[in-house]
Amino acid sequence: MTSVASIFDSMAYGPAPEGDAEALAWIAGHQGRFGHWINGAFTAPGAVFETRNPATGKVLAEVSQGAGGDISAAVAAARAAQVKWARMGGQRRARVLYALARLVQKHARLFAVLETLDNGKPIREARDIDVPLVARHFYYHAGLAQLLDSEQPGLQPVGVCGAVIPWNFPLLMLAWKVAPALAAGNTVVLKPAEYTPLTALFFAEISREAGLPKGVLNIVTGDGDTGAALVAHPGVDKIAFTGSTSVGRKIRQATAGSGKALTLELGGKSPYIVFDDADIDSAVEGLVDAIWFNGGQVCCAGSRLLVQEGIADRFHDKLKRRMDGLRMGDPLDKCIDVGAIVDPVQLAAIKDLVAGSDGEIYHAACAVPEGCFYPPTLISGLNSASHLMQEEIFGPVLVSMTFRTPGEAVELANNTRYGLAASIWTENVNLALDMAPKVKAGVVWVNATNLFDAAAGFGGLRESGFGREGGWEGLMAYLKPAGKPKRLASPKATPAPAEALVEGMDRTAKLYIGGKQARPDGGYSQAIWSPKGKLLGHVGLGSRKDIRNAVEAAHAAKGWGRATGHNKAQILYYIGENLSARAAEFAARIKDQTGRDGADEVEAAINRLFTYAAWADKYDGQVKQVPMRAVALAMNEPVGVIGAFCPEEMPLLGLISVMAPAVAMGNTCVLVPSQTAPLSATDFYQVLDTSDLPPGVVNIVTGAPQELAKPLAGHLDVDAVWSFSAAPISGLIETEAAGNIKRTWVNHGLARDWAGAAGEGRTFLAQATEIKTIWVPYGE
Ligand code: NAI
Repeated sequence: MTSVASIFDSMAYGPAPEGDAEALAWIAGHQGRFGHWINGAFTAPGAVFETRNPATGKVLAEVSQGAGGDISAAVAAARAAQVKWARMGGQRRARVLYALARLVQKHARLFAVLETLDNGKPIREARDIDVPLVARHFYYHAGLAQLLDSEQPGLQPVGVCGAVIPWNFPLLMLAWKVAPALAAGNTVVLKPAEYTPLTALFFAEISREAGLPKGVLNIVTGDGDTGAALVAHPGVDKIAFTGSTSVGRKIRQATAGSGKALTLELGGKSPYIVFDDADIDSAVEGLVDAIWFNGGQVCCAGSRLLVQEGIADRFHDKLKRRMDGLRMGDPLDKCIDVGAIVDPVQLAAIKDLVAGSDGEIYHAACAVPEGCFYPPTLISGLNSASHLMQEEIFGPVLVSMTFRTPGEAVELANNTRYGLAASIWTENVNLALDMAPKVKAGVVWVNATNLFDAAAGFGGLRESGFGREGGWEGLMAYLKPAGKPKRLASPKATPAPAEALVEGMDRTAKLYIGGKQARPDGGYSQAIWSPKGKLLGHVGLGSRKDIRNAVEAAHAAKGWGRATGHNKAQILYYIGENLSARAAEFAARIKDQTGRDGADEVEAAINRLFTYAAWADKYDGQVKQVPMRAVALAMNEPVGVIGAFCPEEMPLLGLISVMAPAVAMGNTCVLVPSQTAPLSATDFYQVLDTSDLPPGVVNIVTGAPQELAKPLAGHLDVDAVWSFSAAPISGLIETEAAGNIKRTWVNHGLARDWAGAAGEGRTFLAQATEIKTIWVPYGE
């Protein structure tokens, strides 16, 4: 028999299981079978599938496999409820969101236990992290709803939002999608992951008590086919997705050209960088939270350890000792550090990936329970090209390599197709803050890891997706400008006249690449005629090769992103000044090409340059009010290389309205100007030449948007593509952009008033920047 003395000797933990009776009783109350939640009530269960407790393999419940008809019914309910919900106004919606937050708190224990049963995560995490963050998310968004009408006038909800979420944080991901959607006045159809549908169903049930009107929130359970049906449904206005990069790419393709708004929060392979002056014990402890939190099944898991060479052996030794002390077992046990893997399919995937590694594999010495469990694992001795250094494992497996200098750490950190998060450990604050902007990631933690809050934006770059969740920036993805935009008329190039009027010397405008005039590679050009039949000149017809050259030049000029806001402003003012000196000539050129007086357009273009010169050092970041001892900085960083198809209708103002915000925010760009009136653009590069703009920051490729859309949007070194072209290329751009999941901003054939307020301002600045959240905790 165990004596008290022997317990003191061994200091072994005894089991401390959390009771599951209430959660099982709730399931039993539904006879263990669930339909969908549509229009405020459960439907009768249809074709069902099982959801199991991964720790025991036991069936928890049967849930319905949603089919097209279920999705249609849910979308119809959401549509019917939307206008009334929006008209309630932000302040009345705030009351409902507040009630939802309170209800989550009142049912906190049941939510936590249900989540642990369904997902296999330790109850300690579900109870202390997931559920409190869910409540915080609804409180925070109650506040956003309260302030929305006064703080963000001129916007309206997007409409019906489809949300597709993964199994790693089932209730938290629901909160991340549902809270902003409802705050903004949208209605929702949510599809939970097939492994973990239960907390969403419980949430739906209690939402009635919060006074949520029928149809505002609908839940349809099912697998990937159900998700695909939701994504494809024509009645959905926006899709918000969290999950794997491969499915994110499919969703980008499926929604291309449909006009549906899209945000994607995808996978990662986030670096965890430890410098030799770091507090090593804290860095080891941080690593436990980075990669063994939720068994490493975390999109932003610090799964790629980069440790400075001089301390690597000591660090690995300490880490292995700490790994051996981790406790695995029944996730309902409050003393457990690492729980179960969500499903045998995921376990098999982890095993396969590790078996294929040629690194040195160390499994923690802790006892591994029978069933769906995988031990904490460290794989060292890899190089940056190793498969496991690049692939997301999504399990409790850390890969590791060393670096020598801060520069090398940045290079290794960025040697990935992802860009979700990064941790930087050093006691040198100057080094940390020098590194943070250089690492390609949406979130950076300094001497910390996995800090989250509703006020601080979360989301990625590159193949980790686009869009932010949390903060005002997250809410913006659920809003659009009020009013109904007009359709864009398709422009007609002036045809060659029966009798050509040719005056003066022959003049062929070239492309503008890397600060130099360049002949089009294909050797083709196009005549530009005035409406009166006068030959105005020729412009080169750019091709795939020219786009490649222009992107290369734009890449080489990326140092522009490090210029100070003041410097960028000076150059934009100078461009404005030089354009002003040639205003009459540019006005005449517009008249020649379009037949209308161009003086106002030139004046507006000069003004726009001055506006973005003003913004260059004033589009400030923020410090977020997070409820912990930490500074969470929201920094506006350039997106990178932006490819843009400029408007047809205003050949000079349109070009400058697109170029100036991109350049002011530190991006470099490849611009395809108006096809019917390109000479304003080719004249304009002479202004750029005399304005101290570094070569390659702006590149101009004339030609047919239909021809150039595919190579520009498909180029892997382009970070974002915009289109305001009248050519029907929005769908093509969105499809091509799926390759490396780049950001897109396209018009879907809708017009914009370039001379008015819609032609400039914060929308452009937001599109020209990525918000990076940098967390710096403070205190002893
Ligand atoms: P997944 O991306 O397949 O599933 C996420 C959600 O999308 C689920 O609700 C699923 O039913 C749905 N879905 C699947 N195919 C769809 C389609 N064609 N159209 C619309 N919805 C669809 O992720 P899965 O299979 O659960 O996990 C596979 C891998 O994805 C993991 O090993 C991990 O690497 C990664 N993953 C990343 C997550 C993240 O937060 N970044 C979360 C979950 C998984």
